[in-house]
Amino acid sequence: MKISILGLEGTAWNLSAAIVDENDVIAETTATYIPASGGIHPREAAQHHANHIADIVRQTLKKGGRNISAVAFSIGPGLGPCLRTVATAARALALSLEVPLIGVNHCIAHIEVGRWKTPAKDPVTLYVSGANSQVLAYRKGRYRVFGETLDIGIGNALDKFARSVGLSHPGGPKVEELARQAKQYVPLPYTVKGMDFSFSGLTTAAQEALKRAALPDVCHSFQETAFAMLTEVTERAVAHTGKNEVLLAGGVGANLRLREMLAIMCEDRGIKFYVPEKRFMGDNGAMIAYLGLLMYKSGYSTPVPDSRVNPGFRPDDAVVTWQ
Ligand code: ATP
Ligand code: FE2
Repeated sequence: MKISILGLEGTAWNLSAAIVDENDVIAETTATYIPASGGIHPREAAQHHANHIADIVRQTLKKGGRNISAVAFSIGPGLGPCLRTVATAARALALSLEVPLIGVNHCIAHIEVGRWKTPAKDPVTLYVSGANSQVLAYRKGRYRVFGETLDIGIGNALDKFARSVGLSHPGGPKVEELARQAKQYVPLPYTVKGMDFSFSGLTTAAQEALKRAALPDVCHSFQETAFAMLTEVTERAVAHTGKNEVLLAGGVGANLRLREMLAIMCEDRGIKFYVPEKRFMGDNGAMIAYLGLLMYKSGYSTPVPDSRVNPGFRPDDAVVTWQ
């Protein structure tokens, strides 16, 4: 019988349910929480997910819900209240459908959906989203973290800066647009420590820089500085691991300037650069369902008593059973 997995994603502001089989996404339904003001309020986002999850699941099952083999959900990392709301729904669904429950690591799901939907086989992955910024690669049964942010994710840094100058959430795309009108680069702190990077000082310095420079120039300089840091660490992970592919994942991966810098680096090194379709870059239910499918095929399941969410779940704490 064909395997099909229902996956639920709701680690932050996006609530999404999807059904996938081994070949493709059969159905996907999404409801996005948009904060009335400011950034994401975890409790409000969780309330949004609670309000919409029944409907999202119902619509998804209606579109493609025959013979579900297992229910997968993001067990972490993410915002605690959001994770708990979606996990409760996943447990109830698995019990009522009488199928296994599979708790998946959200970061690894970003990587696996990229390996599924691009030709990448064994890449160095740059995963850049609101809360996360990591450089990862597979080695000996785990996805190792080669470099990561020491404070906030690049997306949150962009959003925070954008909000402070009166732009609405999410700020990343607005900063990208403004940066196109820039006339000059203003120096901002470039912070790479070993293989790790930091963005909170950059956000503060960018706000400071507005006293002497125009907003588009600061947006441009913010991007140039932050993306150069990410590209440098990604390149060093490539050199260190000897891998010959780079995969971009996460919502910030929509940024064309970041893509351009990574593409140039990969071309210089003579390696491949892969970017999945946009729908698979930001948080989506399909990636959770697909990693669930890989784990299901490897015989993995999460007993309900062990299905407590883990808001700080690191990708290198997950044992890869499916490769
Ligand atoms: P995670 O739970 O993995 O941290 P998330 O909830 O932040 O994910 P994503 O959809 O992966 O969700 O990423 C959202 C982030 O991507 C926001 O911070 C947003 O500003 C940023 N972003 C979206 N488009 C762009 C862009 N074109 N340039 C820069 N940043 C962008
Ligand atoms: Fe994500």
